Amino acid sequence: YDYDLLVVGSANADLVIGVERRPAAGETVLGGDLAVHPGGKGANQAVAAARLGAATALLARVGDDGHGRLLLDSLRAAGVDTVGVLVGGAPTGVALITVDPSGDNSIVVSPGANSRLLPADVRAAEGVLRASRVVSAQLEIPLETVVEVVRNLAPGSRFVLNPSPPRELPAEVLAACDPLILNEHEARVVLGDACASDDPEDWARLLLARGPRSVVVTLGAEGALVADGSGATRVPSVTVDAVDTTGAGDAFTAALAWKLGSGADLADAAAYAARVGAAAVTRRGAQESYPTAEEVEAL
Ligand code: RIB
Ligand code: NA
Repeated sequence: YDYDLLVVGSANADLVIGVERRPAAGETVLGGDLAVHPGGKGANQAVAAARLGAATALLARVGDDGHGRLLLDSLRAAGVDTVGVLVGGAPTGVALITVDPSGDNSIVVSPGANSRLLPADVRAAEGVLRASRVVSAQLEIPLETVVEVVRNLAPGSRFVLNPSPPRELPAEVLAACDPLILNEHEARVVLGDACASDDPEDWARLLLARGPRSVVVTLGAEGALVADGSGATRVPSVTVDAVDTTGAGDAFTAALAWKLGSGADLADAAAYAARVGAAAVTRRGAQESYPTAEEVEAL
């Protein structure tokens, strides 16, 4: 394989304002200075993996504009192969983000060019897809595009999905996931009416019954639950002072995908990914906050 990881997904400019609290409907609040960061769940994953040392490529679409150049600069600086980053067709995706004093965020995404990453673009990138040991995706791009990815995986390669933002998933996509990585909210949406329980072990069991070979449920401060045909294991979280949680989940997913590709088992890969995610919340922004492998060792 030429690539340890191919990420197929979104690239957004993150327009971030710190607030004391979020406004209610009809209300105006004053916040801090605007910061513009490279983000988007796909580009975030690609940068996170490359920073850790993975040979990484990204299939994405940005606009022919300043935000698109911000993203390409960030990807290249991290060492991501951008041969699959298409330019033009619509403005670069934008995420409007507020961050409160506890480091929690709320996000509204305008997909822009991300919504023009189409199945035909996946077919045109077949060479890169076939040369990738692990392929990961999220849901800020059209679902048909993700379906086309799972139809074109190389034999023996591994597919990882973070269904964010969540929606119900076709059986064909669920069956390809190894693992499906999701938080509580995402698990409830993917399970739909089937999810009456409050126990993550029940969610994992119900999700596995839908076809994925493995499932990782992230539980914030409670760590994560990993599950496959051989059972379920808890992985503890790593406690740090949170400054900005934006994109920490993307770093977790990328680290997990890369470690699995290098032969780690699910629990070990998730424990490593938890440390990567923890390092990411200690700094502002998404991509700019991601640690190198040395920084993860030092944690
Ligand atoms: O997961 C965090 C990301 O979600 C942000 O970078 C923002 O762009 C949104 O896509
Ligand atoms: Na961060």
